[in-house]
Amino acid sequence: MTQQWLVFAAVAAIVLVLGALVSAGTAASMVTFVFGDSLAEVGNNNHLQYSLARSDYPWYGIDFTGKKATGRFTNGRTIGDILSEKLGISSPPPYLSLSQNDDAVLQGVNYASGGAGILNETGQYFIQRLTFDDQINYFKKTKERIRAKIGEAAANKLCNEATYFVGIGSNDYVNNFLQPFLADGQQYTHDEFVELLVSTLEQQFSRLYQLGARKILYHGLGPLGCIPSQRVKSKTGQCLKRVNGWVMEFNSKVQKLIITLNKRLPNAHMMFADTYPAVLDLIDNPKAYGFKVGNTSCCNVDTSIGGLCLPNSKLCKERKDYVFWDAFHPSDAANEVLAQKLFDSLSSSVSAPPSLPPKPL
Ligand SMILES: *[C@@H]1O[C@H](CO)[C@@H](O)[C@H](O)[C@H]1NC(C)=O
Ligand SMILES: *[C@@H]1O[C@H](CO)[C@@H](O)[C@H](O)[C@H]1NC(C)=O
Repeated sequence: MTQQWLVFAAVAAIVLVLGALVSAGTAASMVTFVFGDSLAEVGNNNHLQYSLARSDYPWYGIDFTGKKATGRFTNGRTIGDILSEKLGISSPPPYLSLSQNDDAVLQGVNYASGGAGILNETGQYFIQRLTFDDQINYFKKTKERIRAKIGEAAANKLCNEATYFVGIGSNDYVNNFLQPFLADGQQYTHDEFVELLVSTLEQQFSRLYQLGARKILYHGLGPLGCIPSQRVKSKTGQCLKRVNGWVMEFNSKVQKLIITLNKRLPNAHMMFADTYPAVLDLIDNPKAYGFKVGNTSCCNVDTSIGGLCLPNSKLCKERKDYVFWDAFHPSDAANEVLAQKLFDSLSSSVSAPPSLPPKPL
């Protein structure tokens, strides 16, 4: 397999996924299933009685409709909410908020859960969260409910034609490998750990495929070494280069995995959305995007006890000036910039189909 063919395959996969994603005609009926962590959560953990990974209290949601703390880990909307707006669909509801017989499942579901990772042991100290495996199990249940409503053939068609957004893996670093008191960081070298993550992800993607998923968009990890909760570990407040290096290695291995799966699984159109450069640019050059601060959060969090925004925390004056809302999560304003970039890259890859020889990605 030549390098050029691989690049072509990757570009073709992007065009196939995003052709379906942004073509205006199909947008209104587009069904999306969302899997992930706190960057994509819209309120599943509110329904987990003992979960410590929650954000259903002030100041979360202060810039959301009705100033409501919905369980989103930001002051306003997630990137997924904003992408949904741009696609003209409503952001799918949290799985755990649905009743057994809810017709909403026919429009899509959000399974994302704060604290969740690829691995089961990730985020264990939050007591409860939906791991990626849990989320896939719930998708299987969802498919059974859809089948009961519209029959087997129509359910298969719906699941084949839906778009699957997956954003998971940050917690496998932040709330696992990078925590010196947890076993994984002691037990594995990074080379071993990244192999474990990628081989687990391979099984999880394959399982989603067996359940009918064809168009899967995986949201690559951002520069985790630059989030406020990591920067405080450097004496000078700099980004942790070693952590960013690990994340880039993870991203590039997942990118290769996706190319391999697209070849191996008939009609699979999986895509890797590389958000790392866009997030890093926003953090490094906040002023170029109309922000003032990229290295610390609007909510004055105590990173020694976590890094979430607590009701007794002080907020900054202008929330729009900050890239970060708390020590982990971007602000609504930053999510707007990132969602727009993602949307533009999706649209341009559709309107300009690849011609050979392809440009390098
Ligand atoms: C998580 O635990 C379940 C149940 O024990 C197991 O079936 C699954 O393979 C585990 N997944 C991972 C990623 O370790
Ligand atoms: C953030 O950057 C500003 C300006 O470059 C600097 O003055 C400030 O000390 C930095 N804050 C932290 C927490 O590193």
